[in-house]
Amino acid sequence: MTKNSRANFGSKLGVILASAGSAVGLGNIWRFPYETGNHGGAAFILVYIGCVLFFGIPIMVAEFSIGRHSRSNTARAYQKLAPGTHWRWVGRMGVLAGFLILGYYSVVAGWTLDYIVQAASNSFAGQTANGFIAAFNNLTANPWRPALWMLAFMLMTHFIVVKGVEKGIEQSSKIMMPMLFILLIILAICAVSLPGAGNGIKFLLQPDFSKVDGNVLLGAMGQAFFSLSLGMGCLCTYASYFRKDVNLPKTALNVGIIDTMVAILSGFIIFPAAFSVGLQPDAGPSLLFITLPNVFQQAFGGVPWLAVILSIMFYVLLALAALTSTISLHEVVTAYLHEEFDMTRRKAAILVTTGCSIIGVLCSLSLGVGKELTIFGMTLFDFFDFLTAKIMLPLGGFFIAIFTGWFLDKHIVWEEVSNNGTLKKSIYRSWLFLLKYVAPIGIAFIFVNELGLLK
Ligand code: PFF
Repeated sequence: MTKNSRANFGSKLGVILASAGSAVGLGNIWRFPYETGNHGGAAFILVYIGCVLFFGIPIMVAEFSIGRHSRSNTARAYQKLAPGTHWRWVGRMGVLAGFLILGYYSVVAGWTLDYIVQAASNSFAGQTANGFIAAFNNLTANPWRPALWMLAFMLMTHFIVVKGVEKGIEQSSKIMMPMLFILLIILAICAVSLPGAGNGIKFLLQPDFSKVDGNVLLGAMGQAFFSLSLGMGCLCTYASYFRKDVNLPKTALNVGIIDTMVAILSGFIIFPAAFSVGLQPDAGPSLLFITLPNVFQQAFGGVPWLAVILSIMFYVLLALAALTSTISLHEVVTAYLHEEFDMTRRKAAILVTTGCSIIGVLCSLSLGVGKELTIFGMTLFDFFDFLTAKIMLPLGGFFIAIFTGWFLDKHIVWEEVSNNGTLKKSIYRSWLFLLKYVAPIGIAFIFVNELGLLK
């Protein structure tokens, strides 16, 4: 991302679009449903919403404040605001998390490209639910196909980060995001009206709190950080290009609302559709890819051309939503290498792309030929997902909350958050309370509780 194009975040809509573009992605449409499915449904969603409100949004305001005040990449931000301290390790851990996430995230992004081609060649027509499962397993078991799509996606991201064409991306986001939203609403309406969809709706709306254990809490917390792009300095980097008149709490609230709405809408597509054809909700990472073709098939199968057009549109929009997220991930690492190691942006970006591609290929293979190789009982793909989403991001969020709530100069915090002194003192105090006490204690509790369970 070039400095010039980042300056464009000055427009208020641009700010929200860029941040929401990073937040809304595979995390909402692919990861949220399968985590919900793995963790029992409605109760998980309620815990998730709690995590967004009590940890996510307050920490997002903190990340925005750190970024806008320091006007630098995430690692340097801490060096500037707390020189000579170890806080810079929070920034560095964030960069490492971004690097690892980009590696395995691109694998899933690559699948979306493959599904665009499958949709365009009308290969969903006449298939049964088992056929869709077989097609997905076929794709992931193949050593070449998903790896090549992953590389294609990585190169697209690389090209955009190096050429700095975000301006175009930002402009098109203005059309794409509402289009994606409308398409999700249409698909949700179709999904809930499928025969047998009622059980899926129950799964989403009837909480069973007896299912809430440490694992559910950790899953919901990790999903909140992952989905909101929090805890690794991504929104901090973006905020370094926000203008002074951007209202940080309002922007965080908007991004949080948009992101959560997209996730819940996706749930209303996936679960009614899955229950309708008898698919298990805990199918894991394959859930979106084995469920959605059923919706196109069953709802629009009678009008084949419509099924083809809508499914192409969906996978294209999904790929673009993933692209605005991979750009933000790539940017965090590229900006860090470029600024801290005094290398050109081009060279920094090549290093990031090469490193993440290697991780991506390994993660892709770990779902097929390398299935037997496990770390702590997980495939490499699952391990990186666990390590980043459930450990590194919440840990980063914990330290960001402590740093901003307890260490950063109060005047700086008030200056950044209060929107030129116009924010009501009571709102500011409530935010600070959440940041200083609720978020760090809550995150620590969930970690300790889950580690206790693991013993
Ligand atoms: N929030 C993105 C999604 O939900 O798909 C993923 C992501 C992007 C996570 C950027 C972290 C990040 F820094």
